[in-house]
Amino acid sequence: MQYRRLGQSDLEVSALSLGILSMVGGGSWGAQDEGEALRTIDRAYDGGINFFDTAENYADGESERLLGRATKTRRSEVIIASKVSAEHLAYDDLIRACEGSLRRLNTDYIDLYYIHWPNPSIPLSETMAALEHLQQQGKIRVAGCSNFGHKDLGKLLLRGRVEANQLPYSLLWRAIEYEVMASCAAHQVSITCYSPLEQGLLTGKCTSPQHVPDHRARNRLYSCQRAGVEHGGRGVEEEMFRALAGLQRLCDHWGITMTQAALRWTLAQEAVGSVIVGCRIPDQLEQSLAALEVELPPEAWAEVTALTDGIKETLGPNPDKYSPEDQSRYDRYPE
Ligand SMILES: NC(=O)c1ccc[n+]([C@@H]2O[C@H](COP(=O)([O-])OP(=O)(O)OC[C@H]3O[C@@H](n4cnc5c(N)ncnc54)[C@H](OP(=O)(O)O)[C@@H]3O)[C@@H](O)[C@H]2O)c1
Repeated sequence: MQYRRLGQSDLEVSALSLGILSMVGGGSWGAQDEGEALRTIDRAYDGGINFFDTAENYADGESERLLGRATKTRRSEVIIASKVSAEHLAYDDLIRACEGSLRRLNTDYIDLYYIHWPNPSIPLSETMAALEHLQQQGKIRVAGCSNFGHKDLGKLLLRGRVEANQLPYSLLWRAIEYEVMASCAAHQVSITCYSPLEQGLLTGKCTSPQHVPDHRARNRLYSCQRAGVEHGGRGVEEEMFRALAGLQRLCDHWGITMTQAALRWTLAQEAVGSVIVGCRIPDQLEQSLAALEVELPPEAWAEVTALTDGIKETLGPNPDKYSPEDQSRYDRYPE
């Protein structure tokens, strides 16, 4: 396992981290067995992963409870990240939200506490003052943000310090490459990437849009003709499955899995501190850990990148997966 310094902090996080969302079931994920989830977390720890990601609103706090149970005997050896929801960014609400997370995690400090989504109706100065207070009290070690575009990040950094920006990033979802990636690099804010496997698509298990269940096809990669889709865009399904077939051919040629290629590619990009994988069972985690063993020359990675350049261009610079450009939830804080 590689370890990387998070932003300017003294936290050394594993390059691969584990997200505790899909393994608590619900929403897009379906039922989950707690024994399997605990075994997956144990396997991650044994494989060198020291960085675990949760949020107050994952499965109504169940994700934090599970992570608290899984880490109670090794609290000082792990780095726990949690998130305060957008509706709790007013000063008192944020302090209360943090207390709730601490209780559910069964700990007296959170290593990295993110603002989960921007909320332009609450002044950033108020949110940052609450985070600073929590830091002074030792209840959080460092602050972070998530889903902050380059303008919002700039405004936030005028009011305080964050060490990480958690963003959607994968070979199929490259919107952050337009602006926010460079701005994170310039400010020494680490990018922690979520959905690096596009909820399993980049493992090669679906070979056509029909294989993807509707509840995982509501984002802008998919046509708005799909059930439950609200973004109104045309999607990039055809280009996407062509790229996936091309990637599979390259992987077969190199003797690696698509999971390995997708994660290794993401890990190699600018300003990326850690890639947060979602795994529901130990076997999936094993396959993700194998990504660290892959070494390919730069020309090979350039070939991989080229496969999705067209998709990046079609989808444009809006990192919001679910909302069209004019309703993006990114970069909405007033001047
Ligand atoms: N900040 C935010 O707004 C935000 C948003 C989303 C997620 N997150 C965080 O990021 C984490 C990761 O996101 P994600 O869960 O979307 O990541 P992901 O790694 O793209 O997708 C995870 C899913 O892919 C499938 N999968 C993983 N490995 C596999 C394998 N080897 N073979 C086949 N299928 C495999 C599994 O789903 P199945 O087995 O069910 O198919 C798994 O649950 C979350 O847990 C959460 O902590 C943050």
